[in-house]
Amino acid sequence: MTSNPSQPLIQANTVIRNIRQLVTVAQQPIPGANGPLQVISDAALAAHDGVIAWIGPDNDAEPMFQHDKGDATERADDIVIVDAQGAVITPGLVDSHTHLVFAGDRAEEFHLRRTGVSYGELLAQGRGILTTMNATRGADTEMLMGLAQARLDIMRTFGTTTVEVKTGYGLDKITEETCLRIINNLNAFEGSSIHKHSQIRVVPTFLGAHAIPPEYQDRRSAYVDLIVEEMLPSFVGLARFCDVFCEREAFTQEESRRILTHAKELGYQLKIHADQLSPSGGAMLAAELGATSADHLDYASDADLDAMREAGVVATLLPGCSYTLRSPYPSARRFIDRGLHVAVATDFNPGTSYCENMQMILGLAMSSMGMTLEEALTAATINGARALALQDQIGSLEVGKRCELAFWSISDYHEIGYHFGVNLVQSVLVKR
Ligand code: NIG
Ligand code: FE
Repeated sequence: MTSNPSQPLIQANTVIRNIRQLVTVAQQPIPGANGPLQVISDAALAAHDGVIAWIGPDNDAEPMFQHDKGDATERADDIVIVDAQGAVITPGLVDSHTHLVFAGDRAEEFHLRRTGVSYGELLAQGRGILTTMNATRGADTEMLMGLAQARLDIMRTFGTTTVEVKTGYGLDKITEETCLRIINNLNAFEGSSIHKHSQIRVVPTFLGAHAIPPEYQDRRSAYVDLIVEEMLPSFVGLARFCDVFCEREAFTQEESRRILTHAKELGYQLKIHADQLSPSGGAMLAAELGATSADHLDYASDADLDAMREAGVVATLLPGCSYTLRSPYPSARRFIDRGLHVAVATDFNPGTSYCENMQMILGLAMSSMGMTLEEALTAATINGARALALQDQIGSLEVGKRCELAFWSISDYHEIGYHFGVNLVQSVLVKR
């Protein structure tokens, strides 16, 4: 290592010491790291202005941050040292699919479904998403903001540091725009000073094509026109992604193609709720249009998966829906064995997955979808980042990436998924 007198050997203003295991999920081999998740035992991590500058064994950390003054060395005095006290550290969890902004709840429908009424039947009856649309249209901005903030706080408590948030309960231009502005204000990185404490990165997605609102029930093509001609052009800059619920009870493949094609022309990146309740053509459309991710995929065929892989579309699986709807869990093995990048997310929403907790999702991915711990953690970190096209910035702990960490109060990362029903995360740390 070259030394520059009076300069520390590595420039860093935060050093985290005494890490029992640093689960890097690194995509490149790291010296001293082991296994598919590239775990370093008894580790330290240094960051400068929110970017990881060095990771390695704790024993090697001390000299790295000293000024070299010829014979004598002294520690640079502007470094904050954080004692991890033997915690296990992983990348902050990435929840790449949520519907966080809404008012009301749907407990009644949840319990009706216990008696055999299906989710699709409720939606076709004008309930489901439209029940939440009514509650959301009736709520004021402050209330919606407060509800969303409280949910984000819970997510962070369970280890999440990045959350994608969709609109889709306004279904008119004014309410969709209100929800998009709320989502942008939630963003601790680009948004308001109010929520800087939240330490959560929020990625906004426009999902005006979530359901046909009642006022357009008999003229659905006029609602698609409204999305394409008015909403999409006005919301450029407010949403990074455009999503469509491509499904029998929602939008056809043709309608979805029209919306997403126009969105792409306007510079949005694409996502699709695909093949959730029936084979809807959503996965194929995702491949055709080069979507960043296709999500759900319960009914996706092998040909769909092959097309997605060839087009580089991330497969996002949402086991909270299978849990809530009591539908068969998609086999993650099938996706992984076909060579797809698989992400998992909460799909937090009041209808099919009222769950803020990514640890629950990690557990279900292992217990009910056949993932190994290594695959599940990959799906909840770097592959979640891929599903948001943020894999160059977050999702693994490597030099050059953002310092966004989850501290786990466990003695070995193999406790994740095994010890269930409790919160194993003690805190998150997001350096800026
Ligand atoms: O991802 N499937 C469509 N959208 C959500 C459900 C939304 C709702 O029921 O409110 C989902 O499952
Ligand atoms: Fe969803």
